[in-house]
Amino acid sequence: MNFPSEPFRIKVVEPIKRTTRDERERLLREAGYNLFQVPAESVAIDLLTDSGTSAMSDSQWAGMMLGDESYAGSKNFHHFEAVVRRLCGYRYVIPTHQGRAAEHVLCSTVLKQGMCVPNNMHFDTTRANVEHQEAEAEDLVIKEAYDPHCELPFKGNMDVARLEETIRRVGPSRIPFGMITITNNSAGGQPVSMANIRATRQVLNRYGIPLFFDACRFAENCFFIHEREPGYAERSVRDIAGELFSLGDGCLLSGKKDGLVNIGGFLALNDARWAQAITDMLILVEGFPTYGGLAGRDLEAMARGLEEVLDEEYLRYRIGQVRALGALLDEGGVPIVKPTGGHAVYVNAKEFLPHLHQSQFPAQALAEALYRDYGIRTVEIGTVMFGKRNSATEDTIYPALELVRLAIPRRVYTNQHLSFVAEALVDLYHRRESIGGLVMTYEAPRLRHFTARFEEETPAAMVWPGAGFAAAPLS
Ligand SMILES: Cc1ncc(COP(=O)(O)O)c(C=O)c1O
Repeated sequence: MNFPSEPFRIKVVEPIKRTTRDERERLLREAGYNLFQVPAESVAIDLLTDSGTSAMSDSQWAGMMLGDESYAGSKNFHHFEAVVRRLCGYRYVIPTHQGRAAEHVLCSTVLKQGMCVPNNMHFDTTRANVEHQEAEAEDLVIKEAYDPHCELPFKGNMDVARLEETIRRVGPSRIPFGMITITNNSAGGQPVSMANIRATRQVLNRYGIPLFFDACRFAENCFFIHEREPGYAERSVRDIAGELFSLGDGCLLSGKKDGLVNIGGFLALNDARWAQAITDMLILVEGFPTYGGLAGRDLEAMARGLEEVLDEEYLRYRIGQVRALGALLDEGGVPIVKPTGGHAVYVNAKEFLPHLHQSQFPAQALAEALYRDYGIRTVEIGTVMFGKRNSATEDTIYPALELVRLAIPRRVYTNQHLSFVAEALVDLYHRRESIGGLVMTYEAPRLRHFTARFEEETPAAMVWPGAGFAAAPLS
């Protein structure tokens, strides 16, 4: 599969600093083998996240110069509000500095202890915000989402039967809202179909529960619907987005993804009482409702980004670039989650490093090796991010998937950069037995992946019962 040609020219460039393997080895030791702690200028190709890492367009930069920094009633807010209303159709538009702030103002306003939020799959910050209110975050994605080999067009779909079971078990009065995350970042960036959203809506309607979208990657999800779902090939992505949002009561959106900006987010909804209570909370923690933690110029850039992201030439290139990287890795034998998702390729670390048990953090170990040997930074989405301790037994509960995510920033890396990434991973795959496990030496009580520290395992500790090849002898 070929990389699609970029539908833009490059006007400004940012040099990439070269580092040696020895330097990176030292940096890793100093960072406690946590790639979040490595200085970005010592990274050659940064695939840590697609969030806030987009390159803005000339129009967005021009918009930044038109920032109206009035405390109240900035003209950029009114432009932004009009763009969001046209896109989603929701009445109240509440800006926030990023997605998790929107999660926070929603959850802290309407969630109470003992309540429950069903979702196809919570992102880590969404889960943390729900749990912070001592409520339960229930993941109800279809079971195929946990099978990295199963090639379904809409692997992010909600398991609608389990949703109904959950509502009956928990009771609708304890579920203030349901959510659908588009696309499902935590399990491969997989899209959700319009039919599934409609079915989810119908179940929630039966119990009078509102539906909110975690819509960070709404445009990518809508492009997949346009490409894959019968009846949508002739419909524009904007039109599909309109239909999708019309099936919900509100959305949370981190603008750092499909908003094509480096900072920003919002919450939009129809319910006047909730909007009032959320706005009151916003003033406490983010700022006045016409800036919500952002500068006027940031709101202008996000307004323009939300329009640009609907350009189908852009989306074809975007999804095509990610897909082509996945195809190169697949041809090279690297085990990846299939089909390739919208914003990232996910490497299956359990299959890449079958000699490591999940207690040895194989995805973290793989991410670390990729940085040490090639200067490529990625992120672990596995035991470090989602592993939990059973407080009664002290045992670890391991997540089903152990992944390394290669998130592709929007409009930042050329196809040549991504070919290099593919070559690096294929090369590492041929030398995979040399990669050892890690031991966690520090963890924070919440969102531990950002600050956890590790040490490399000693050779003796690297042997676990059932290891697939002869590791170093136990002595
Ligand atoms: C699906 C999803 N929801 C919410 C968030 C949180 O957004 P932010 O990083 O802007 O706080 C993210 C960020 O990556 C995400 O991927």
